[in-house]
Amino acid sequence: MLKASPTKLAILEKLVSAAPEMVPSGELVASLKVTRQAIWKGIESLREETIGIESVPNRGYRFSSPPTFDLSPSWLEHSLKGCPFGHPILIFDSVDSTQEIAKEAARQNMPAGLVILAEQQRAGRGRMGRIWLSPTGGNLYASILLRPRISPMQIQLVNLAAGLAAQMTLESLFRVRCSLKWPNDLLWKGRKLCGILSETASETDRVHYVVTGIGLNVNMSVADLASAGAENPCSLIEIRGEKSDRGEILGGILRRLAEMIGTLETETGGMQRLVNLYRQRCSTLGKEIRILTDSGIDYGIAENITPDGALEVNVRGSLRVYSAADVIHVRASQD
Ligand code: BTN
Repeated sequence: MLKASPTKLAILEKLVSAAPEMVPSGELVASLKVTRQAIWKGIESLREETIGIESVPNRGYRFSSPPTFDLSPSWLEHSLKGCPFGHPILIFDSVDSTQEIAKEAARQNMPAGLVILAEQQRAGRGRMGRIWLSPTGGNLYASILLRPRISPMQIQLVNLAAGLAAQMTLESLFRVRCSLKWPNDLLWKGRKLCGILSETASETDRVHYVVTGIGLNVNMSVADLASAGAENPCSLIEIRGEKSDRGEILGGILRRLAEMIGTLETETGGMQRLVNLYRQRCSTLGKEIRILTDSGIDYGIAENITPDGALEVNVRGSLRVYSAADVIHVRASQD
């Protein structure tokens, strides 16, 4: 498992802000108030994260290049300075599910902002009890621990905010404009690029935590995803024709999500603004859909998103509101 530490982050901060100048190791020792050995260990560990740091005997250290590994936790935390989310970030090679690790951390009272990443999930989970295939191969599997100060009635908005944050990040970084299938799948030409699962623990009047899991196909080919068993998948590498930096994507999502949740928590009208942004990007609206709930299957036309994020559907002439369901667009080609 790779993670940042206060010493590593402080070293990185010093070296990056001094670059291209060299920082004498004595200066690092004095300003960080740690031993020379702790500095050396920190530098070695940053190098293990593939961050380029040159050392010149008797002179000191110099930052030379950003990491080649796109999920370096120290680099990510450094670039998320000032963002309430992404501290700490832990990355594992292989786990059953990042959701389970983040939920256990939530139960152990870890504060909001923790992010668990994995290169592979052996038992990745999707919505409605489905499997989320999570082979090694450059995709993003992330779970974020949130403790939003909102009413439990508004939890669905956090879920929608995560989809919106992912959609907006891909558009602003790469001009890839996906649509949102309610509640928060990202579709590109009707094919699934990203799925989001939010799991929560709350009481009648208080949300204890929300763990939002994001599975985004980034650098794995569609052929490999399909042969791993994914149904009608899509991958960013196919859309862009080149590899993308997962850290950059994650950073964009975390910043936007933090902003949106901050708005929900503090601003009157925040809910309305979020729902409006969501509606503009939601390809479910106006569509003929099949709705799967715990109590069965309905067919109807999706008409609106309510102020608390539920889906309003015209089912044989009467309006029904679904707050938790799975939706299938009957004519997927229109997405
Ligand atoms: C869905 O579309 O059904 C939701 C998929 C969510 C997948 C992510 S990958 C990271 C996190 N860990 C999991 O086990 N699931 C979520």
